[in-house]
Amino acid sequence: MKDRAWRYEGYDPGQERLRESLCTLGNGYFATRGALPECTAGTVHYPGTYAAGCYNRLTSTVAGREVENEDLVNLPNWLPLRFRLPGGVWFTPDAEALLSHRQSLDLRAGVLERESRYLVAEGRALHVRQLRLVHMADPHLAALRTEFTAEGWSGELEVESALDASVSNSGVERYRELDASHLTQVETGTAHPEAVWLRCRTSTSAIRIGLAQRTTAPGASVRVLTEARRAVQRIRLHLMPGRPVTVDKTVSLHTSRDPAIGDPLDAAVDRVARARKFPALLSSHRLAWQHLWQKAELSVPGEAGHILRLHLFHVLQTLSPHTAELDVGVPARGLHGEAYRGHVFWDELFVLPYLNLHFPEVSRALLTYRHRRLGAARDAARAIGRPGAMYPWQSGSDGREETQEMHLNPRSGRWLPDHSRLQHHVGSAVAYNIWRYWEASGDAEFLHTKGAETLVEIARFWAGSATYDEGLGRYRIRGVVGPDEYHDAYPDAKEPGLDDNAYTNVTAAWVLARAVELLGTLPEPCRRELTERIGLDADTPSQWEEISRKLYVPFHSGVISQFEGYADLAPLDWDRYRTQYGDIRRLDRILEAEGDTVNRYQASKQADVLMLGYLFSPAELRALFTRLGHRLDEETWNRTVDHYLQRTSHGSTLSGLVHGWVLSRAKRSDAWSYVHEALRGDVADVQGGTTGEGIHLGAMAGTLDLVQRGLTGLETRGGSLRLDPVPLPELSEYGFTIRYQGHWGVRLQMRPGQLHVRVPASDRAPIDIELPDRTVSVAPGETCELALPERAAPRSG
Ligand code: BGC
Repeated sequence: MKDRAWRYEGYDPGQERLRESLCTLGNGYFATRGALPECTAGTVHYPGTYAAGCYNRLTSTVAGREVENEDLVNLPNWLPLRFRLPGGVWFTPDAEALLSHRQSLDLRAGVLERESRYLVAEGRALHVRQLRLVHMADPHLAALRTEFTAEGWSGELEVESALDASVSNSGVERYRELDASHLTQVETGTAHPEAVWLRCRTSTSAIRIGLAQRTTAPGASVRVLTEARRAVQRIRLHLMPGRPVTVDKTVSLHTSRDPAIGDPLDAAVDRVARARKFPALLSSHRLAWQHLWQKAELSVPGEAGHILRLHLFHVLQTLSPHTAELDVGVPARGLHGEAYRGHVFWDELFVLPYLNLHFPEVSRALLTYRHRRLGAARDAARAIGRPGAMYPWQSGSDGREETQEMHLNPRSGRWLPDHSRLQHHVGSAVAYNIWRYWEASGDAEFLHTKGAETLVEIARFWAGSATYDEGLGRYRIRGVVGPDEYHDAYPDAKEPGLDDNAYTNVTAAWVLARAVELLGTLPEPCRRELTERIGLDADTPSQWEEISRKLYVPFHSGVISQFEGYADLAPLDWDRYRTQYGDIRRLDRILEAEGDTVNRYQASKQADVLMLGYLFSPAELRALFTRLGHRLDEETWNRTVDHYLQRTSHGSTLSGLVHGWVLSRAKRSDAWSYVHEALRGDVADVQGGTTGEGIHLGAMAGTLDLVQRGLTGLETRGGSLRLDPVPLPELSEYGFTIRYQGHWGVRLQMRPGQLHVRVPASDRAPIDIELPDRTVSVAPGETCELALPERAAPRSG
């Protein structure tokens, strides 16, 4: 793998939060931010450790109202390892004593390395080299190796290694007014001379947490200090000039959510006692990563390839094969920070299609997370008088709606009502993922059982949400919010919500059509059992068929309208706002602070109508519109693309991605600037400080899928691999390996005008590769060079 490291030179306190997010290490079970072990949480540093699915609920008072929030809990910090000369102050990079610093994330091996030199006295320095890992083979282990070298002196160094429960969820400035203390009943103790432990529990979800640590240094004795919220070990080292002395810290973490354990503390203590020494841990960790990279091989040259490998690394650290064993969803901001409280949004729409072709068992587990919460989604639908299942916009532990009721506009300092829970389209995302998972994996067992039940209940919700409008002769879905979060109400309306969001209605039509198809093709015992259990009438499919063909899609001036009435909104003076504010990505906050509202304008935060071009191939989309009684020709679609392109501020990292995808598929020469924006989203922190609060997992996975499916036009429909590549001159050569319906390691390599396919040897059937002009069958063990049809050069927008 080329460019296998992600490097930072020098120390920059202003960049620390961003680096900590991007240097997070994780294994799908838990993750720890890349904070320096000698630093404590404050304005510069924010060490944070999060275990997937470990939430706690607290009530706070903001703006005179009681609000309840469920958060992914910042667990006790296992990183602390500080050092000082006896009687001196602890070294920290924030003091003047730092001579040099560099940090490098080895993406191939999953190891974070840092090297720093601290000034000890004139002509004397302390060199510190650290290697850190969060174990990819044993998801309950982490390890930190530190090598101290005296340069130009000899003497004693005091080292303190600790587990620290004096942490809170305080990583996001906007949440500062909310209660953030989630850990209670902290106890510490000693297990055996080399190990100390810490246990605690979350205050309301009562999850018990156990951590144990072993700290060793050759020839040095370890002293234990008992403190209320910290389990501490101290070691005194004798340093000789130029002779590195190594301190190894091994940590184990368990929670009471883990299977196959008794007590989490016992499990942690046992595990750390049994853990092998650092070199052995490092080599089993490297091997696990090697196996992961084999399953997710991606080769893209240049800067794009470098960033894509970082994206892939973080996707795999958040959703690894260990995730398949857990009851968790896709956290929108990874396990990398506290933004959006670790909640699960529709963002899985941008993640699962990528995983489906590499780790289908992980996709299945993530879909099962949704299926387990079908009961909560049914309750939510019932609570508003509708049938079926209404999935929450933000989901956490038990599947109830976790969207905050108020959000803070940091620009105006005002707390405002948050209506984003009206984004019922999240249900279509769940259904879409079920279908695409089945297409890619061929897992009929899942589709015919949990998949069918979930999809059918979502369809039922849409059918129950659609009301017939005699005047229009169409069904309408009213009172929703679409993907564009800027618009949550009509100007001056008393109630929130909009009517006939095109994205919502078209995806609802697609879900209804899939549900009808599924009910018609389910094996009879599955169909009978499902319809009897959930009480579906015999005439339901025909009603759904009718609704799926007659949902209303508004148009104006020859383009698809984002929602009914969109055309009546005022045009925005984009130049004025750009000139006045420069960065207008969060136009909603700017306008609210000015006493105005973005609801009045034709201005979108992110792709909304254009999301349709992200989810569906041009042929699929055309067919969907034809079914709905509309002709969506290329010209209408291109006009629609242009219309919204000029009216979008890209206030979400998902926006650049979707626009890059849609413009690439439309073979437009301006595609690259959006693809580039999507690639830079986190590494350059384009949303102005948000990456430090957690990565944007949807956009990261989406960029991988942009290469995998967007540029190749790869579809797994109809039992063959369909490919319809589009040219993107800036990214014209790439290759990757996929897992497709039991074939492990199918390799696709794209070069201008040429496609190379290799199917690994196995006893499985050949794969049909369907190109726009022909179909070729490639047998296991065969390699095939295919000339691609001539393509016109990208056209300008
Ligand atoms: C976007 C949503 C997204 C959420 C979580 C918001 O800024 O507008 O579409 O689901 O972030 O990533």
